[in-house]
Amino acid sequence: MSRFLCPVCKQPLSKHEKVYVCKNRHNFDISSKGYVNLLPANQKRSASPGDDKGMVIARNNFLSLGYYSHLKEALEKLCIKYSGKDVNVLDCGCGEGYYTQGIYQRLTCNGKNVSVQGIDISKDAVALAARRVAEGQFAVASSFHLPVPDKSIDILINCFSPLAIKEFARVMKKKGVFLYVVPGPKHLWQLKEALYETPYENPLKEEQYEGFELIDTVKTEKEIFIDSNEDINNLFKMTPYVYRSPKEAQEILLKAEKLTVNAHFIIYLYRKK
Ligand SMILES: C[S@@+](CC[C@H](N)C(=O)[O-])C[C@H]1O[C@@H](n2cnc3c(N)ncnc32)[C@H](O)[C@@H]1O
Repeated sequence: MSRFLCPVCKQPLSKHEKVYVCKNRHNFDISSKGYVNLLPANQKRSASPGDDKGMVIARNNFLSLGYYSHLKEALEKLCIKYSGKDVNVLDCGCGEGYYTQGIYQRLTCNGKNVSVQGIDISKDAVALAARRVAEGQFAVASSFHLPVPDKSIDILINCFSPLAIKEFARVMKKKGVFLYVVPGPKHLWQLKEALYETPYENPLKEEQYEGFELIDTVKTEKEIFIDSNEDINNLFKMTPYVYRSPKEAQEILLKAEKLTVNAHFIIYLYRKK
């Protein structure tokens, strides 16, 4: 059995060599890259929703160099701290699976029985995630319509992707832990200074969500030194500033050979009531 549900009739999907099938014979091919597409056409707002290939490749290249390894390390430690012997992990908006991979490996090395699933609405992202974590199950799907059973997840990760809190509450087990990563106030401050005359700090808000209790807030911060024009370009391309910063400032930034920048993250930990 897979841990995914059929997006048409919500029945469990069983995984075969090349296809996922439910008892009502709805079937979904496993792509040659190892993921399955469980996103029905009526949940798509464009032909290729989510991050595009350029953004996905830029982020994959940047993250693979370890610039945000302090965030990965912090997530891994929290997953160890808050999991039992058997643990079902779901990474919603998993992107290229950089954090999913770290969490899977760390939990496994610590002797846990781990089942890991990742979903993202971008098929380019999911294709890379499935390659990174061959032991996991990855699907193209929306966080707002998770093809996952009720009360089946022990640890749910949401890292810089849309917050679908009602769906998260539905799929999580009682006492499961939800790790919600957002940018810290000064995240990428120097990059913003290069782009805007008056940059703003990211607002900090400790929200309470129905069905969850906020149990901890963890900050992780590092100043990273980038001395490669290619890496600066990749960092810029993985941010939303690509779409909404002045073009002249972008051109100057994209020629830079060096950049010191603050990588500041906040992880909110919520326990499912
Ligand atoms: C900023 S990226 C973060 C990716 C990854 N979590 C990371 O931190 O490296 C946001 C991701 O959310 C995905 N996304 C956007 N809308 C989504 C939705 N409704 N459901 C699932 N994923 C979504 C995008 O395709 C993208 O991969």
